[in-house]
Amino acid sequence: MCVHRTGAEPDSDCAAGSGVPCCPAVAISVCYVFVLVLCLSSAEDFDWTKNDHGSFYYGTFPAGFSWGAGSSAYQTEGAWDKDGKGLSIWDVFSHKKGKIQKNDTGDSSCEGYHKIKDDVGLMKELKLNHYRFSISWPRLIPTGIKSDHINEKGIEYYNELIDHLLENKITPIVTLYHWDLPQFLQERYGGWQNISMVNHFNEFANLCFERFGNRIKYWMTFNNPWSVAVEGYETGEHAPGLRLRGTGAYKAAHHIIKAHAKVWHTYDTQWRAKQKGLVGISLSGDWGEPVDITNQKDIEAAERYVQFYLGWFATPIFHGDYPQVMKDFIGRKSVQQGLGTSRLPSFSPQEKSYIKGTCDFLGVGHFTTRYITQKNHPSARSSSSYFTDRDLAELVDPRWPDPGSEWLYSVPWGFRRLLNFVKSQYGNPMIYVTENGVSEKMLCTELCDDWRIQYFKDYTNEMLKAIKDGVNVKGYTAWSLLDKFEWDEGYSERFGLYYVDFRNKNKPRYPKASVQFYKRIISSNGFPNQREVENWRRKAVETCSTSNQLLAAEEQRSTAANILRLIHDPLTSHMEMVTEIVVPTVCTLSILLSAVFLMFLLRRRN
Ligand code: NOJ
Repeated sequence: MCVHRTGAEPDSDCAAGSGVPCCPAVAISVCYVFVLVLCLSSAEDFDWTKNDHGSFYYGTFPAGFSWGAGSSAYQTEGAWDKDGKGLSIWDVFSHKKGKIQKNDTGDSSCEGYHKIKDDVGLMKELKLNHYRFSISWPRLIPTGIKSDHINEKGIEYYNELIDHLLENKITPIVTLYHWDLPQFLQERYGGWQNISMVNHFNEFANLCFERFGNRIKYWMTFNNPWSVAVEGYETGEHAPGLRLRGTGAYKAAHHIIKAHAKVWHTYDTQWRAKQKGLVGISLSGDWGEPVDITNQKDIEAAERYVQFYLGWFATPIFHGDYPQVMKDFIGRKSVQQGLGTSRLPSFSPQEKSYIKGTCDFLGVGHFTTRYITQKNHPSARSSSSYFTDRDLAELVDPRWPDPGSEWLYSVPWGFRRLLNFVKSQYGNPMIYVTENGVSEKMLCTELCDDWRIQYFKDYTNEMLKAIKDGVNVKGYTAWSLLDKFEWDEGYSERFGLYYVDFRNKNKPRYPKASVQFYKRIISSNGFPNQREVENWRRKAVETCSTSNQLLAAEEQRSTAANILRLIHDPLTSHMEMVTEIVVPTVCTLSILLSAVFLMFLLRRRN
């Protein structure tokens, strides 16, 4: 059992998120919290959508609403070097010491590559309408360059997965790029820093349309390009681990947007008429709420936060160019830094019209919210970065629940606001929610995840309210189907509906309580009434204690099996033997002997 933190850690009013200076002084934090509390009391009367954001809405989703769960190739497949797969930047990055928590890697992860049938079985149990997964580029094209070599074994794997999903009436939704760039392209060209990626990616996408397009009707070019650009090329927390502050992220994003547009046009001109599918992109975005809703500077800072996040990619794709506020801020800072041109690249008029409108539906990945206040950052050239370009500070309310990942606070009302923002900014596009969910820390072997039930319940309810507001949401994807490799956090954060026992080589899956709850939302297509929804929750938590016991028993069994293996296996390393058997045995014996000796001494004294 583990303790679920509902409150905040002492420092959790800090500006969270990558790269933002975190609470330089406790005194400042205290002030911020004070201001925040004041603002929150005034926030009670928000009239932003003429609806009280605290109340729960009982009702159902539109008929045909699609419910799903998601995964990505590197996070779940494992089989990193099997059947002719090439290396990806994540294979190489995770094998470098010190990059990932506990030096974990995705080498075997959930062994999804070998468990198609099992995993589709789990999806059936949930009665999912769709499953979102990604295709590993280096599994299909080992070097990333199509003319080099196509790996037919990789094609076979995805064929099998797709066919099995369709046989079970689960619609596949495919992401072409969920961060696993072929390593060769990184080494030879510098990856997304280089414009040549546009053509290589287009060839890969074209191959996927050719081989899988008769069965795939929903394509997404990129998943969360914000992370690729910022964490891959600006902060270096993610592969390929480059720290090109102030320029790297903008350049990577520029090429990604062009690559996205090119792939959309390829589909549009070569495949659409025959295959009749849709091509979109999955963008992630936190919501940014002004700390003080009566302060114009905070309002503008919050707007900037969202524009620099989701707007950075969505605005070119829907309107043809970067958000004006990005052009203004980065341009002005670049001039102050003595640069001849803006660090934000620009699109030519031809490029603008080529990029504009290249989105048949928008994928939205959303997890959390921040309070935002205006904060000027000096424009010194040495400190230039994506983060300082925004001139703002991020804050969180210490009362927001944060059960798992440090950055993930549960703020359901932010979801509705983000969805309404998309509607009003980009002409009410068709939306598929591609990621939404919450994690827990690794140490919790806890299947009774009532905080995840609460998260899903409240976030999907805010989505329902957004649909009532007129937002065109067609589907929802819970993130994620399984616990899996969580990038730089390794296996220390678990997002799954199903628990995966990573210590067991077979990677068995166990349902968490949230499986039962999500299943009910799906079968009722919403929330019928309070009594029933409370009942679902009660039943889900009841059944999970049995699964918890099963898991505990299984863990004991595997510990015992490991000890036996150590005793019997002649190849057992000497070190393992020493640390796992000899040391504990010697310690126990010494304690026993000392106790006996002590008793003997005491007796003699008497
Ligand atoms: C977004 C990423 O796309 C996904 O791969 C990751 O698991 C989630 N964020 C949670 O961190």
